[in-house]
Amino acid sequence: MAVTALVGAQWGDEGKGKVIDILAEKSDMVVRAQGGNNAGHTVVAGGITYKLHLIPSGILYKGTVCVIGNGTVVDPAVILSEMEELQKRGVDLSQLKIDARAHVIFPYHIVLDELSEKARGAGDIGTTKKGIGPCYMDKAERIGIRMCDLIDPAVFREKLTRNVQIKNDIIVKLYGGKPVDLASVLADYTAYAQQLAPYVCDTSVLVYDAIKSGKNVLFEGAQGALLDLDVGTYPYVTSSHPVSGGFCVGAGVGPTLIDDVLGIAKAYTTRVGKGPFPTELNDATGDRIRNVGAEFGTTTGRPRRCGWLDAVILRFAVRVNGLTGIALNKLDTLSGLPTLKICVAYKKNGKILRDFPADIAALEGCEPVYEEYEGWTQDITQAKSIADLPPAARAYLQAIEKHIDCPVKMVGVGPDRTQNLEA
Ligand code: IMP
Repeated sequence: MAVTALVGAQWGDEGKGKVIDILAEKSDMVVRAQGGNNAGHTVVAGGITYKLHLIPSGILYKGTVCVIGNGTVVDPAVILSEMEELQKRGVDLSQLKIDARAHVIFPYHIVLDELSEKARGAGDIGTTKKGIGPCYMDKAERIGIRMCDLIDPAVFREKLTRNVQIKNDIIVKLYGGKPVDLASVLADYTAYAQQLAPYVCDTSVLVYDAIKSGKNVLFEGAQGALLDLDVGTYPYVTSSHPVSGGFCVGAGVGPTLIDDVLGIAKAYTTRVGKGPFPTELNDATGDRIRNVGAEFGTTTGRPRRCGWLDAVILRFAVRVNGLTGIALNKLDTLSGLPTLKICVAYKKNGKILRDFPADIAALEGCEPVYEEYEGWTQDITQAKSIADLPPAARAYLQAIEKHIDCPVKMVGVGPDRTQNLEA
């Protein structure tokens, strides 16, 4: 598999965890390069369920190096509790590496995430309220505190003192909120620093050396292309770069070092949080997809908005990520629906739009142009190959390939890692 990047091709929650887990088993190294504990995936291994937000699921495989790259934002309390859970279950953490340049999430980031969302009122973004955006704001403002600062007591005290002062001013004077207590944050984070210090290093060097020595390296994306800060549905996006280019910046590797980019998509579309969603189904079919597909957030438990597959979005994902293949998950969720629809273009003011618009205001009044496909009634969860699928299911896959000009390389027909068909 050489060097493979795996990205979400829709609005996140595409079932990346399962594909990551399948590929992680064959990987020598798994790398996260953006986002933080706003992501989350559930992995079932050896009958045990693991809910991971920050640590790559590759940690469950002995000898797989798991990297949390420079482009991520790390909440020390969260990563330490994940580490504790894993250790309790006998997982070896010696292969976990956290980049010295990764930015650290503090309680004031979480407070500010909540206060700014509240202040936006009806125009809120619907963030996960984990402090992700405010932490990346500090990074861009160049006042952020990085892992290398956290583990240097003198530097940390100075930077934290300055930041708590600035943030408390904003919390109290702008939002009328409750200030954070410097002494308790300092004490908590000093203790976290001691526990995390052994894992902190320059991971860009590790990743480069692994690639150069021919190791199998998997870049694990969080969120999805439409949530990208630059090319996504701004402002309803996350504050990092979930597209494949994000791996270069967020893991400190050049683009020529990545061989394949696999986009993960569901056989339909879902989204959490606010913002326009052209193929959304606010009807019994949408409810059915939500219930059969168990479409509720891993991190927040929120019900996800559900709709038909949108090929305009997938074409966008193919383009902005340079996808070399698609892994299509949850095809089984669609079993039993008499007719399936694929949105092949949008229609607005009598004009046909084939490309996803840059300005989401333009997306607002877009009507989906659908092509209809026959459904299937058979249970496909036991299929062992794509050839085992009913003809209607195969026709649906072929239609997707035609509309997005990218091969479907994997098909998910159930939650278990064995329920994955490779083309
Ligand atoms: P934030 O990342 O918490 O700032 O949230 C910004 C937007 O990204 C919101 O619409 C969130 O619902 C969305 N988001 C963040 N992480 C995920 C994810 O892992 N899956 C799906 N949506 C996400």
